[in-house]
Amino acid sequence: MDVHEAIEKRRTIRAFKQGVSEEQLRKLLLAGVKAPSGSNVQPWELIVIDDPKIIEQIAEYKYQQSLKMALDAMALNDPAVIEKIYTQTLETPLSTRMAERQKNAYRNCTVIAVCNKKGHGIGRKPWMNIENIASTWMCIENMALAATADGLGFQISILREEHKIAVEKLLGVPEDYELATMVMIGVPAEVPRKKEVGVARPDFSWLHRNKFGNKE
Ligand SMILES: Cc1cc2nc3c(=O)[nH]c(=O)nc-3n(C[C@H](O)[C@H](O)[C@H](O)COP(=O)(O)O)c2cc1C
Repeated sequence: MDVHEAIEKRRTIRAFKQGVSEEQLRKLLLAGVKAPSGSNVQPWELIVIDDPKIIEQIAEYKYQQSLKMALDAMALNDPAVIEKIYTQTLETPLSTRMAERQKNAYRNCTVIAVCNKKGHGIGRKPWMNIENIASTWMCIENMALAATADGLGFQISILREEHKIAVEKLLGVPEDYELATMVMIGVPAEVPRKKEVGVARPDFSWLHRNKFGNKE
């Protein structure tokens, strides 16, 4: 599969049948770390997690975070948001089912914590942090495209604020590193719904010429 085909085919997969072999994993990891990085710092560190207890704990943090996000959205007091959250098509509220889906994505797959070297500190500048984050995400995208090319599913599962800190503690991430995101890779157990790319943002609506806003 060439890279354009992988870009077209890549979709977020949130349900897996099984993880990847050590050989497949190493191939994907090596694709990741060939990404460009600011000043060639290569700021990433990758933790492959195969301890079921640790995976379960991270999945639980993700569940709690997802529920909290739904509550935060309700707190916005937007009637449309509240209606969406309370819409019940099954017995469980939509917010709980969405949170469960986020949690269950950690099952039957290979789980990796992608860490990023912080750019702050003596002699360091804030922009270094930004460049390191950007570089680590290029590594993540390389892995996503390589996984797609190998017929595998890939999910980004991001942890934020207190849940991110909790996972960093659980994994023993040192002070000068942070968790960029969790990623899951495996044999897909779902076919994602068709993505209507041009609907939310019509093609080329994001294109400007010479100056921002100039559409000519
Ligand atoms: C920075 C970032 C964070 C994301 N976090 C999550 C996440 O926590 N859970 C999830 O299911 N998908 C997550 N995604 C995937 C997006 O939801 C997904 O890319 C988007 O809906 C477009 O769908 P597609 O990947 O199938 O094209 C994340 C993607 C990015 C780039």
